[in-house]
Amino acid sequence: MDKQAVAKTFSLAAAHYDSVAHLQRTVADRLMAIVVNLPINDAEKVVDLGTGTGYLLPTLAQRFKPQQLFGLDLSSEMLEHASDREPSVIKLQADLECPPFEHNSIELATTSLAVQWLEQPTRFLKNLNEQLKPGGYLAIATLGPHTLNELKSAWQQVDHVRHVNEFHSAQEWLGAIEHSELEATLWREEHIEVLYESPLKLLNELKLLGASHVDRQDQPKVSSVRKMLRAYQGFQKPTKQFPATWEVYYALLRKPKTKQFV
Ligand SMILES: C[S@@+](CC[C@H](N)C(=O)[O-])C[C@H]1O[C@@H](n2cnc3c(N)ncnc32)[C@H](O)[C@@H]1O
Repeated sequence: MDKQAVAKTFSLAAAHYDSVAHLQRTVADRLMAIVVNLPINDAEKVVDLGTGTGYLLPTLAQRFKPQQLFGLDLSSEMLEHASDREPSVIKLQADLECPPFEHNSIELATTSLAVQWLEQPTRFLKNLNEQLKPGGYLAIATLGPHTLNELKSAWQQVDHVRHVNEFHSAQEWLGAIEHSELEATLWREEHIEVLYESPLKLLNELKLLGASHVDRQDQPKVSSVRKMLRAYQGFQKPTKQFPATWEVYYALLRKPKTKQFV
């Protein structure tokens, strides 16, 4: 995925993001419910990767009271919103795949719904493993390939172009984690169904979220969008609402403490 294009899409979305990020809030809350129980005290450095408008930051600041709390994002517009939300944050405009931290320096890194655009997770996990302190944690929430299945299926009835992002599977993530030196202390998968009044509302929401970006130059024709919206009618529930499924993975990874040699 073209990272500059991702950054541009999210910069354009920054002003509206919080008004439509309902699913993102649910996922972040579930990730934080895991994170707040971690046995971390007197943290020097806590980092939120792909912090967006900084929803996780106040909880991280209050629970861990780190000496330094970093919010990292590709988008400077998103970072402005993050520092309005949590003034103690140190803003860092950077790529989460290779964060600019020293080795063995981070007690806790979190990332909610920001790593799904990585080409593959291996390099990210390797860099985080180097930058975490021994005993430090990386908490991840990300999306799986069944995300927006209804939308994919509706588009497939129109053409064979890719209109919806493809995300890494659980097998790919678990394989990459196994090849990293990080230990998985928790892995959880869930499907969250969000209901919309109409498929058009879903499309508009994805646009406002900045989540509609796909690596393609051309936009679909209006006539194709209309056909897709008609195909989506097939998913209508008895309540007249339209579902959109999000497949979410949660992982808690720990860098092993240095081995003691006797
Ligand atoms: C869906 S938003 C999630 C924001 C926040 N974590 C939340 O839960 O509300 C994804 C964010 O990740 C950022 N992002 C995507 N890829 C990134 C990358 N490679 N490096 C840094 N930030 C990235 C985007 O700019 C955007 O702000």
